[in-house]
Amino acid sequence: MKHSSIFYLLVITTLVSCTNNKPIQWTNETPGIWKITAGTPEKVNLLSELNILPRYDILNQMEETPLPFSPDEIVIEQQDGKTYLRFPLSEEEKIYGLGLHFKTVEQRGRVLELHMDHYGGRDNGRTHAPVPFFVSDRGYGALINSARYIRAWVGTGIRKDSQHPPVARDRNTDPAWEAQPYSDNLEFLIPAEGVEIILFTGKNMQEVVQRYNLYNGGGCLPPRWGLGFWHRVPTLFTDKEVEEEVARFEEHGFPLSVVGLEPGWQTASYPCTYEWDPHRFPDPAEFVAGMKAQQIRTNLWMNPYISPAGELYNKIEPYTGSHTVWCGIVPDYTLPAAQQILTEHFEKHQLNIGVSGYKMDENDGYDSWLWPDVATFPSGISAEQMRQIYGSVMQDVTTRMYKEKNERTFGLVRAANAGTSSFPYVLYNDYYNHRDFITALVNSSFIGVLWTPEVRASATGEEWLRRMQTVCFSPVAMLNAWADGTKPWSFPEVTNEVNEIALLRMQLIPYLYTAFADYAFKGIPPMRAMNLEEGFTAATRLNRIEFDATDNPYALAVKEEVKDQFMFGESILVAPLFAGQKERKVILPQGKWYNFYTGELAGEGEVITAHPEQNRIPVYVKDGGIVPLYPPPLPGWITLPSLWKSAITERNPVPICSTTMMEKHTIICRENTPA
Ligand code: GAL
Repeated sequence: MKHSSIFYLLVITTLVSCTNNKPIQWTNETPGIWKITAGTPEKVNLLSELNILPRYDILNQMEETPLPFSPDEIVIEQQDGKTYLRFPLSEEEKIYGLGLHFKTVEQRGRVLELHMDHYGGRDNGRTHAPVPFFVSDRGYGALINSARYIRAWVGTGIRKDSQHPPVARDRNTDPAWEAQPYSDNLEFLIPAEGVEIILFTGKNMQEVVQRYNLYNGGGCLPPRWGLGFWHRVPTLFTDKEVEEEVARFEEHGFPLSVVGLEPGWQTASYPCTYEWDPHRFPDPAEFVAGMKAQQIRTNLWMNPYISPAGELYNKIEPYTGSHTVWCGIVPDYTLPAAQQILTEHFEKHQLNIGVSGYKMDENDGYDSWLWPDVATFPSGISAEQMRQIYGSVMQDVTTRMYKEKNERTFGLVRAANAGTSSFPYVLYNDYYNHRDFITALVNSSFIGVLWTPEVRASATGEEWLRRMQTVCFSPVAMLNAWADGTKPWSFPEVTNEVNEIALLRMQLIPYLYTAFADYAFKGIPPMRAMNLEEGFTAATRLNRIEFDATDNPYALAVKEEVKDQFMFGESILVAPLFAGQKERKVILPQGKWYNFYTGELAGEGEVITAHPEQNRIPVYVKDGGIVPLYPPPLPGWITLPSLWKSAITERNPVPICSTTMMEKHTIICRENTPA
């Protein structure tokens, strides 16, 4: 059922009268969620084309939490045919979310244009997930449900009628003068004559995010195989070369759950045929079955643009847009007929022979080769809206393909937006900065998307190890060797450590699966920003930088924030190391934290210095945390006898679930589950 067609059985309370004489309607959807409709919202929005349903069954059981301010402090007006929207900001308030950023976490003081795009190295709103959802540490958040390029001024604009204006200072004489004085507004401009806004409250930020995710259908629950190790082979590999590569993994005692084929599996790519190349893969069914027999799933790369060289072209052509990309036609997948044609093609060539999923590339777009904003589509959806939702719709269509076959998939995608949390897809990109990849992992947790800091190549063994360590603590532990054919063992000086971390990842699958169950059924992101963790109080600091007429003529301050450590599941804190680091600071939230590897007490609500023992990534377990593990099945597989020590602490005198239980029944381990 499409999101837009759901009948909401709800009480309508008109709380705010009107602005510009246009009525604003407030609907109390469920405890802690309100929908505001202002002006005439467009038919197409971020959720309207998706087959998702809010998890009212769970949401209705959550406790009501009030809005932290009076509803009439939200101002909505029509300006110049657009919708202007304003939320109040209090002095110390912090704002998170508003897209998948790679360098910054807290967004106050920033100006953004939320525009689907490949990330270009600047946090300006152009990104793979330009989600117009923000969460405030005052305990509320809002989704601006418009598929337009939305502009946001996050505490930058200062109004003449401000209730809390900053003090005017004289730059000549006052050293406290600031180029960016305090602003008490969060302002948006939506290029549409009306908009729907969905407000979420919570007793803390995590609860706000939970409500947001549950409203979007909850989080995805990937198959267990999807949580193992992934390896993407070089583009032009043949079936034999893939089989040999897989055999090398076995020889090296390196785990492998998913093999990813890059563009060369097809007869043509950029644009694509989605048909197997008969020379490189003469018998795809046998190849896929051969992989499955070794417990390895096959994932196929694709992009949305369809080549005239394939059988799909003529069938789908009537349902495509006005422009081509790389001379391939662009299907309008909001149309059921286009969805049907693609489904039949994928079933015939891939699903029916056991292909387990897709890597859906290039649906984010670079302006210079994607369809322009003047393009038209047969559904009548504008090019701009199509750009914002294309990746979401592809995720929806392919998720349903697998659901209809009663199978699970887990794949990769380069574009996501609001409403995609329940689709089993993880974002990735071509950008390659290790630190920034971790910041993206942190930020993904505010906006209902998943992100992998995939590993591709490295300048040194040290960098290789550090990257491999962090990817093993992310939604998809993946080496993407499409371009240079790097192997896990390419840096002999760190082979043992790399093996160890990949094997640990495999052991952690029951724990990770439980974390994903919490995502699916409670809306808790499996990897989370520290700011979402109860008891984490480290504040963002603004460091004033000295005036420099060339480099910093406005003496702009630099924000210091926690963006290099994160929560992994309910109880694990990961503090990655980056090449060149011999030690690092770790901020432990309140309560006791234990060293994952030794079980020793690491600290309690304090800043510690981590010295990695045996070159391992620093990992800590929360007091009372339960970390179910698969048993070590291979020689050399990491054994962590002391781990249970960290689980058996004051709050949990006995372990309440065992790895055997997890393995046999895939039981979701909860604190009150009897053993
Ligand atoms: C890129 C993608 C890479 C790889 C490559 C293959 O767009 O980000 O991961 O798949 O295409 O051509």
